[in-house]
Amino acid sequence: MPRKTTISLIKCDVGSLAGHHVVPEPLFRIAEKNMKKAKEEGLINSYHVFNVGDDLQLLMVHERGESNAEIHKLAWNTFQEAAEKALNLKLYGAGQDLLKTAFSGNVRGMGPGVAEMEIEERDADPIVVFAADKTSAGAFNLPLFRIFADPMNTAGLVIDPNMAGGFKFEVLDTVENKCVDLKCPEEMYELIGLIGTVGRYVVSRVWRARDNLLCAVGSVTKLSLIAGRYVGKDDPVLIVRAQHGLPAVGEILVPFMHSYLVAGWMRGSHWGPLMPVGVKDAKCTVFDGPPRIVALGFQVSNGKISSNDEGKPMIADLFDDPAFDMARREAVEYASMLRRMGEFEPARLSVKEMEYTTLSKILEKLKDRFKFL
Ligand code: 13P
Ligand code: 13P
Ligand code: MG
Ligand code: MG
Repeated sequence: MPRKTTISLIKCDVGSLAGHHVVPEPLFRIAEKNMKKAKEEGLINSYHVFNVGDDLQLLMVHERGESNAEIHKLAWNTFQEAAEKALNLKLYGAGQDLLKTAFSGNVRGMGPGVAEMEIEERDADPIVVFAADKTSAGAFNLPLFRIFADPMNTAGLVIDPNMAGGFKFEVLDTVENKCVDLKCPEEMYELIGLIGTVGRYVVSRVWRARDNLLCAVGSVTKLSLIAGRYVGKDDPVLIVRAQHGLPAVGEILVPFMHSYLVAGWMRGSHWGPLMPVGVKDAKCTVFDGPPRIVALGFQVSNGKISSNDEGKPMIADLFDDPAFDMARREAVEYASMLRRMGEFEPARLSVKEMEYTTLSKILEKLKDRFKFL
C-alpha cells in the first residue's frame, strides 16, 4: 500500500510587532517549542514555522489525515499560547484571528486559515506552499487558473500527455456556502466567469481530471462572514503539488513574475498589488503592505519533509530570487498609483466588500439625515 502523508498548513494572526507588520520572535519561539514537542511525541513527523507579515504559519507533515482533531488541537493550543504571550507583551492585535474561546475539534470556522492535503507519495513529491498577508482567499484564483488551465502559462498542458485531460476546479461560493466543480479546458469560460469575482467565488481545490489526483488546496475562510463584522482579512494559504504529470514548480511560480491586484490591503478595505518576496522581506510596511506573498518549496519523503544530514527539513525560499525583482518593482509602482487615489474607488474596495467595515458605522450615523428628493 502506498504511504499516505498529510501536509497541513495552518495559520493565524495572534499578534504583531508595531501594528500589523510582522510576527515577533517570542511568538515564533512558542510555535517552535510546541512543534518540536509534537514531533518528539510522534504526533507530527516534521514541521516548519514561518511567517508572512503578521501571520504565524505552522507547516506540519504527518500521517493522521486531513481535519485530524489532534493536529488541529496542536495548532489551536499553539495559537492560544502565542496569543497569551502577545497579550502580555501588549503586542498589536493579540489573538486577532482567534474568534472562539473553546476548541471544538477542528480549527475551521474558528478563525485560523487552513489548507490540508493528503497524498499518496510518489517516488519524488515536490510541494509548493504559498502564504499571503493583507489579502483574502480569492487572491489565488488568478494564479490557480494560470497554473492549471492556461496553456500559455503551463507548457505541460500542451506538451505533457499526462496533463492532456486537463484539470477540475472546485469553486466555492462563499456567500451562499455551496460549491461547484468545473472542468478545464471544456468549462474554462464558465470558470473564469465565476472566479473573476474574487470577493465571492474562491477556488478551494484542484484535481487532475483523468484520475482525480488532488493537486491544489487553498484556505477559504471568510472571517467577516463568520464573525458578522470586520475582524481583519483572511490572509490565505495554498498547497500545490508539482511535477510528474502536474505543473512543474517553474510553471507554478511563473504567474508571480508580474504583480496583480488583490483585495485586502489597509484595514482589509483596499485593492493592493501583490508582491512576491523571500521570507526575510515578508513584512508589511507601506499602508500596511503592499500585500506580500511567500512561496516555500520542499520534497515530501516517507511521511516527512526531506531533511539534511542533521535532520533539518530542507526548505527552498522560492521568491527569494532576482527573477521576481520585476514583480516587486511593479508592485511598488502600482501601489503608488493606487495610493494617489486615496479613498476613491477603485483604490478602495466596493461598497459590497466594505459592508463589514467601519463604513457601515458612518451610514448608521447619517441614516436619519438622508432626505428623499
Ligand atoms: P485600530 O482602529 O485599532 O487602529 O485598527 C485599525 C486597523 O489596523 C484595522 O486593521
Ligand atoms: P491583518 O489582517 O493582516 O491583521 O491586517 C489587518 C489590516 O487591516 C491592516 O491594515
Ligand atoms: Mg493583524
Ligand atoms: Mg495578516
